[in-house]
Amino acid sequence: MVTLNFSDRWSQYYDVMAGTPPRDTLLAVLERFGTPGFAIDLGCGEGRDTVELLRRGWQVMAIDGTEEAIARLLQREDLPHPERLTTQVARFDQVQLPSADLINASYALPFCFPADFPALWQQIEASLKPGGRFAGQLFGDRDTWAAIATHTHHTRAQVEALLQNFEVELLDEEEKDAVTALNEAKHWHLFHIIARKPTDSAKGI
Ligand SMILES: C[S@@+](CC[C@H](N)C(=O)[O-])C[C@H]1O[C@@H](n2cnc3c(N)ncnc32)[C@H](O)[C@@H]1O
Repeated sequence: MVTLNFSDRWSQYYDVMAGTPPRDTLLAVLERFGTPGFAIDLGCGEGRDTVELLRRGWQVMAIDGTEEAIARLLQREDLPHPERLTTQVARFDQVQLPSADLINASYALPFCFPADFPALWQQIEASLKPGGRFAGQLFGDRDTWAAIATHTHHTRAQVEALLQNFEVELLDEEEKDAVTALNEAKHWHLFHIIARKPTDSAKGI
């Protein structure tokens, strides 16, 4: 079994990510909304996606399990409209998500403990307003980090099962040999996801 202490690594990760542009899944999901609403950036890190959401007129709740991530976000010199931002330091197993138009979780949910993932996903689904969307990544079972017992990885069939109550607008599976943000060789197996919670009328209710 592989053990990697990720808590020691986030600081280095935030250094590398400083100043990087928003994730493609965030940009793609934003194109699907006519007007800005309320978004949760779950596992926001140093805030590359939060900043873009604020820039585009969204109200944002940025949540991360490490205090350093939230501190770095709040200290950003390019933080637009801080009056539309609320923050929380909360782990995935403790977090209480309010009702939202968008839940964005870029490269974050795989770091949830497997035992806590089902409740977290259920909460994501329940917190989205009808017509609201989830955007982000899940990691696949052939990813190098699938051997880490504290991470959550999914087969394609499991991902499809998680999305069964959604209208899937993007499900892009990617596999590549590349490096991590910390420049370590890694086999990546990713699912890039945009999924819309149906409105009651779409469900025939
Ligand atoms: C790979 S980073 C992604 C950050 C950002 N969303 C991005 O796209 O660069 C994962 C983030 O999830 C956070 N995280 C990891 N495990 C967590 C947990 N159990 N609860 C809450 N946040 C967690 C980390 O602190 C980190 O900031």
